[in-house]
Amino acid sequence: MSRTRLALIAALTLTAGSTATALAVVPAGAAAAAPACTVDYKVQNDWGSGFTTNVTVTNNGAAKSSWAVKWTYAGTQKVTNAWNAKVTQSGTNVTAANESYNGSLAGGGSVSFGFQGTYSGSNAVPATFTLDGVTCNTDSGGTPTPTPTDPTPTPTDPTPTPTDPSGKVDNPFVGAKGYVNPEWSAHAAAEPGGSRVANQSTAVWLDRIAAINGVNGGMGLRAHLDEALKQKGSGQLVIQLVIYDLPGRDCAALASNGELGPTELDKYKSQYIDPIASILSDSKYAGLRIATVIEPDSLPNLVTNAGGTAGSTDACATMKANGNYEKGVSYALDKLGAIPNVYNYIDAGHHAWLGWDSNFDPTVQEFYKVATTNGASVNDVTGFIVNTANYGATKEPFVKITDSVNGQTVRQSKWIDWNWYVDEQSFAQALRTKLVSAGFNSGLGMLVDTSRNGWGGSARPTAAGPTTSVDAYVDGGRIDRRIHAGNWCNQSGAGLGERPTAAPAAGIDAYVWVKPPGESDGSSTAISNDEGKGFDRMCDPTYGGNARNGNNPTGALPNSPLAGKWFSAQFQELMKNAYPAL
Ligand code: GLC
Repeated sequence: MSRTRLALIAALTLTAGSTATALAVVPAGAAAAAPACTVDYKVQNDWGSGFTTNVTVTNNGAAKSSWAVKWTYAGTQKVTNAWNAKVTQSGTNVTAANESYNGSLAGGGSVSFGFQGTYSGSNAVPATFTLDGVTCNTDSGGTPTPTPTDPTPTPTDPTPTPTDPSGKVDNPFVGAKGYVNPEWSAHAAAEPGGSRVANQSTAVWLDRIAAINGVNGGMGLRAHLDEALKQKGSGQLVIQLVIYDLPGRDCAALASNGELGPTELDKYKSQYIDPIASILSDSKYAGLRIATVIEPDSLPNLVTNAGGTAGSTDACATMKANGNYEKGVSYALDKLGAIPNVYNYIDAGHHAWLGWDSNFDPTVQEFYKVATTNGASVNDVTGFIVNTANYGATKEPFVKITDSVNGQTVRQSKWIDWNWYVDEQSFAQALRTKLVSAGFNSGLGMLVDTSRNGWGGSARPTAAGPTTSVDAYVDGGRIDRRIHAGNWCNQSGAGLGERPTAAPAAGIDAYVWVKPPGESDGSSTAISNDEGKGFDRMCDPTYGGNARNGNNPTGALPNSPLAGKWFSAQFQELMKNAYPAL
């Protein structure tokens, strides 16, 4: 793999002399000689969990043919990608060295570079900078002069779009509008009241080979990308594509079974991934930011449903044994990740699936294995997505995992059932930390599918539940009103969730609408079709459930069409229960 995005921040050992020295106060009346160098470090954008910075270095000494600027952060800042300098970080120490094309720095000359970073807590400007070992912003005698404040600030680009040699930015959603899929938008707009949401960005699902050219005269991939270019105009735009056609797809359920049999890996590669990669590589589309969601449910199914547990299925055991989910996902990561403007996000289930230690740690290992074998590398992975097409609340405002009632932890309530998480955001953030410690890049970003997890409307609790028992407390306070957190099909009572938002919280690249609201999760009765879809009784409101939902009723809406088909009654309910309300 040749992507260098995060290779740029490989660890680098610094010399002892490069650590920060404390600034002294300028003695009153002292004549300050010109500093040997000045470093002007300006934070341009700061969205609470990340930032972009522009740095201008002025050399007041002899001309240089190469240069290196160093500083030390007092906080948790981590540089994730840079432009016009090679920036490396080891702990809190950062070195920015020239690129091959901007090494020469005349006496009196200046050079600028920029970078993007993440942080939590404070994002203070570093106290001290050195240029090739010499402390800047102080006079030659070591007495500091005040940091020069520029009376005519250098004009900064109002929408900085940091790029690095791989062409990738740290978070493609920042500063970009989202692609509005005209086909989904038309369905939404045709519903009474639908114009309130029809301009939201939703993902394009490439759910079969035929979707690449367009199913039944519908838009194919090129048609979507051409439309995306139009919507983009002169700004930035991100289009989300769901890569969803693995051999033996949807092995633990039936509603979204696909067209490829368990052994059809070669067909997946040559007739699905390769043609997609070839279209996405077209230079015409190089200005688009393309975020992929890689194969919902597949790797989590290998972890929890492929043998040895009550929820296991023969189909998942087969896919684990033949390795075709793993090989297919590695192949997709490799091929798509090689394209400079493609950002891969691997599907990571949801909190009520993987939130137990016995699932969480093996999932991280599985992800790392798939991202480092069969040609894939961690540099092919921009991040992970949770809650794809699911209903878990982004945040539970009235139930915290650390709460207890009468000395009993809420973890022992029936609803939480010893899980370590109650909502998607806390799960995503913890998973991110674990993935980074397992070897994924530190700039990893998470997505949360908030298309249908709003849980507003009149049934939404407005305060914590009664403290009579852990169950009363949790059931009275939780906004997720499902009968069981393992229910996933056309959930009754659900509402639209947070509207798509870039960088909403630490470690989260975006809230996104991946499942297009109004498209069914599966049919409530058997419907014959030529898409390979089965009938899953989890979509049948009369069914009593299975091991994966604790044998509870399904909570599914009645009269639903096949997965992916427009389901007007569900769309109306999602609008009615939207939170934030429409
Ligand atoms: C389901 C369907 C798929 C559809 C998608 C989005 O996963 O199986 O065909 O495109 O949902 O609605």
